[in-house]
Amino acid sequence: MSRGGQAHPARKLRRSDSFRIMADTRTDADRSTHAAVPDPRNDTVEIFINGEFFPRPEAKISVFDSGFLVGDGIWEGLRLHEGHFAFLDRHLDRLEAGAAATSLDIGPRSGIVEALYATVERNSMVDDVHVRLMVTRGDKKTPSQHPSNVIGGPNMVIIAEHKKADPAVIDAGLDLFTATVRRPPPDTLDQRLNCHSKLHEVIALIQAVNAGADEALMLDPTGAVATCNATNFFIATGGELWTSTGHYNLHGITRAVVLEAAEADGITTRQTPFSLTDVYAADEAFATGTFGGLTPVRTVDGRTIGNGDTTMIDRLRNLYLGAVEADIARQIKAATGATP
Ligand SMILES: Cc1ncc(COP(=O)(O)O)c(C=O)c1O
Repeated sequence: MSRGGQAHPARKLRRSDSFRIMADTRTDADRSTHAAVPDPRNDTVEIFINGEFFPRPEAKISVFDSGFLVGDGIWEGLRLHEGHFAFLDRHLDRLEAGAAATSLDIGPRSGIVEALYATVERNSMVDDVHVRLMVTRGDKKTPSQHPSNVIGGPNMVIIAEHKKADPAVIDAGLDLFTATVRRPPPDTLDQRLNCHSKLHEVIALIQAVNAGADEALMLDPTGAVATCNATNFFIATGGELWTSTGHYNLHGITRAVVLEAAEADGITTRQTPFSLTDVYAADEAFATGTFGGLTPVRTVDGRTIGNGDTTMIDRLRNLYLGAVEADIARQIKAATGATP
């Protein structure tokens, strides 16, 4: 199937299509941390590409784009609440850190903020909106890695969609499978970079899906738990909140906010190496990400986590929602000088 959902007439079914079709037709194929309630308004959203807006079917980028050719680009996933992007400064700090690390000129912060708001305003969006901001090194004159082959400036694309996390996934919880693909250390591909190269996460996810799970849990090179393929991972154990060291995972903004809010509420938090033995014996487990906030984990490798008690995750979810609301209120106050 093409991106628009239409089968290309010239395309014959190949052997490699069989897995994709199998995965597409699994009844629980969308039981992931990014599963969204279907919203027909997304058929007509307009996409920002380098300062212009295009209807979804016409929103296209060159086959010579650096992100397409070699995964040379960085991105952020943001959420809109009451017309404001939650934790916008943190997202832009991370984007700018990624740009600095990859020597990518993404221009001034004000230009990015303007483009983000222009996109959601163009689409009359206020709430329950997920936005993907992507910047690549730009179009190349020939397929190659070398940055000197770039012609023109970076490509910036912003896709804003009406996306509400599927409550069925949050109610039931996720089934995770521990993939054999490890998260590399910072001297290989620094996991703090939110870059377009997500192939090792995709391979891990495919392993998990083939094993009948929803998403992958991934270990670091020492065998300690690192993170999930597209979210961060926490366990609650003996009243404490544990997550990985941070050396082998994206420094998720939701992860940071949950840790800060938990500490402020008197919960002992640890960023520590821990193993699957700790996970299997945990009282509760959950994944964190901008899209779904906190998503409970029901099983890991077929083992049920905890006894169904959700005291910690319920408490943390409330704390997280409070932090989102406080951030939005702060932004409204800064923009208008008024108390909302
Ligand atoms: C690999 C990976 N881990 C974790 C996260 C969660 O990060 P955040 O909480 O900033 O959305 C993401 C989201 O982009 C991700 O891609």
